[in-house]
Amino acid sequence: MAIGPKPGLCFEGTHIVNVARTLAELRTLRANLPEPLGLVPTMGALHEGHLSLVRRAKADCSSVGVSLFVNPAQFGANEDLASYPRDVERDLRMLEAEQVDVVWTPEVSEVYPPGFQTWVTVEEITQLLEGARRPGHFRGVATVVAKLFNAFQPWRAYFGQKDAQQVLVIKRMAADLDFPIDVVVCPTVREPEGLAMSSRNVYLKPAERRAATVLFRALTAAKASFEGGEHDAERLREILRGVLNAEPLAEIAYVSVADPSTLAEESGKIRSGLLSLAVRFGKTMLIDNILVGEQEDG
Ligand code: PAJ
Repeated sequence: MAIGPKPGLCFEGTHIVNVARTLAELRTLRANLPEPLGLVPTMGALHEGHLSLVRRAKADCSSVGVSLFVNPAQFGANEDLASYPRDVERDLRMLEAEQVDVVWTPEVSEVYPPGFQTWVTVEEITQLLEGARRPGHFRGVATVVAKLFNAFQPWRAYFGQKDAQQVLVIKRMAADLDFPIDVVVCPTVREPEGLAMSSRNVYLKPAERRAATVLFRALTAAKASFEGGEHDAERLREILRGVLNAEPLAEIAYVSVADPSTLAEESGKIRSGLLSLAVRFGKTMLIDNILVGEQEDG
């Protein structure tokens, strides 16, 4: 359904997705959408993982908004900001097919205008794992997500378990800053052979892509051992390392068995845990994770 004025690009078809460029356009479009609204923040280069979030939002909410914004603030100086895959036309066609109601594709200068100097810093849980490997990354994520929450004012916002630490950071930020928004976590969508879908998978050469299935093999081997009675955290890390080390193209950045809510590295016997990996294949760093044991909340 077309709602209100239609600034920016629009696509003809059975459904017209409204595309806002500026914050003012977004606010105008958003004001006319039925409540409650679900938000799916993305950096574009959409795949089935992103679409699973959109579908969950469609199922829960009366209207759905998606942001497509490659957020420079969450990329380190030596990271892939310039080469990050971008195809807005394709993304919009995919979102149109999902009958998304509004899409925001802001310019960098719209999100970070000259003089911008306010940042959201979540402290402890950003010091570990991806935060330790990528200083400043979660400051960029938390800041842009806070701005997206203000811009869209959603009832719920949808994130993938694929980025387990990101979910914890955003839940903490939303609670600490009193955003009246439910943060909903959706399962990791995988390729048939287990590789977690990621916009960065396009960087992998064919041999690296085959090798990259080792992440899921390592995680499932450790989970099977846990379920078979191996609850010792260090033993589980050894199982993860053992499977990864058998793959010559895999270069381990970290292997972690951590408390699922604090991310503190575990030792001794655990009742539940977040098993997470960061592994480099050539120039491409991939992350993946799996939860084991009983979780306190979904
Ligand atoms: P992006 O990497 O585009 O991911 C957008 C959302 O899709 C995130 O919540 C991410 O966890 C989820 N996602 C990615 N791959 C997935 C998969 N295989 N299965 C399920 N969900 C998956 O994460 C970001 O963008 C950015 O940090 C963002 C939150 C948009 C802030 O800039």
